[in-house]
Amino acid sequence: MTYEEAVQKLAPAGQEHLLKYFDEISEEQKKDLLRQVEALDLSLLDWLKTKEGGVEKGELAPLGALTLAEIREKREQFEQRGLDAVRACKVGAVLLAGGQGTRLGLDRPKGVLNVGVNRELFLFEQLINNLMEVVKKADTWIPLFIMTSEKNNRDTTEFFEDHNFFGYNRDFVFFFIQDMAPSADRNGKIFLEEKGRISTSPNGNGGWFASMQKAGLQKEIDRFGIEWLNVFAVDNVLQKIADPVFIGATLESGCACGSKVVAKAEPQERVGVLCLEDGKPSIVEYYEMTEEMIHSKDADGKLLYNYGVILNYLFRLDALKEITDHNMPIHIVERKVNCLDAKGNPSKPEEPNGYKFEMLVLDMIHQMPDCLPFEVERTKEFAPIKNRTGVDSLESARELMTQNGIVI
Ligand code: UTP
Repeated sequence: MTYEEAVQKLAPAGQEHLLKYFDEISEEQKKDLLRQVEALDLSLLDWLKTKEGGVEKGELAPLGALTLAEIREKREQFEQRGLDAVRACKVGAVLLAGGQGTRLGLDRPKGVLNVGVNRELFLFEQLINNLMEVVKKADTWIPLFIMTSEKNNRDTTEFFEDHNFFGYNRDFVFFFIQDMAPSADRNGKIFLEEKGRISTSPNGNGGWFASMQKAGLQKEIDRFGIEWLNVFAVDNVLQKIADPVFIGATLESGCACGSKVVAKAEPQERVGVLCLEDGKPSIVEYYEMTEEMIHSKDADGKLLYNYGVILNYLFRLDALKEITDHNMPIHIVERKVNCLDAKGNPSKPEEPNGYKFEMLVLDMIHQMPDCLPFEVERTKEFAPIKNRTGVDSLESARELMTQNGIVI
């Protein structure tokens, strides 16, 4: 793209300020900036209009789950079916590790966190340990795709190298880098973080499949004959990955995807709840529910909107391929964004000063024709580390790990 073409692209959108320092930067930086402008998706800015009200939901209806009792009854049958699929290499695992862990205040990948107390035990290591349980049971390696971001890719890959992949077979591990999205100020002006660099941040965890495709990993999927992908978050230390019982149950259900869910601890719990929206599976956030929905119960006194998601989904590949970025909503997230001050000097804000644009994996569920909600025991499978202290913190996760017999 030439300078003139860049002006033509930016001016109608009120973004010419991105070229403000063009004359001051080196030839190399000029080329780089023009490349960034060319790749810039200005349609993201339209989503700023949804900032207050969010994206309007369709008609919501409750959706039950395959309950713990029902799973217990058919456990062996599900497990056998799941193990058969794992042995046939039909299931791949996808670790979402491109986040920035802002709430934890880390400047390194979340997975390098030492969750041990009396010994060193890294979050990544524990996740590999969890996956190894299935590898041992099935007596076969499971392909593991790890999504990083431009910001943490090198740190993550080196960490795995330095620790010899925590005993995992490295021939079955594939890293890929997620896409970035620009950040904008409160007036919708895209930030520069340097004179020749547009400020960007990872585009949320909903772009994982598109980024995986861009990275050319379809060829590995084909090589292994993978038909299902189990996507999971980096920060749930009790995460069961490629769980054969979950896989077997989802296969038996005939659904295009499955989602692990936990029964709500209390009606007001701030979790995304799996339900139906216009007849299709969907996840509704606690703030999108009316008081009536939050409290309504069935004849047995059970909450109708009862099952919260824990970011562990199993997607059938052919259904995933139907999703395109165009039908994924964009979420506007307030954040502290490094930018240039009025004099063109780099500045690090103390308070949120703008917005990031993110796609979320939970929105992929609504793109699926159907979904099996699969209930799991919260204390056995859900110990997320989001905050420094209190709820969903390293402290609470350590307690749950100890309860589950993990030596820390
Ligand atoms: P969170 O939504 O908790 O985000 O991610 P985060 O970045 O880890 O933490 P905060 O919100 O900044 O404090 C849930 C999962 O999605 C991944 C995270 O790594 C985590 O596994 N994720 C999130 C990505 O892979 N990419 C992203 O752009 C965002």
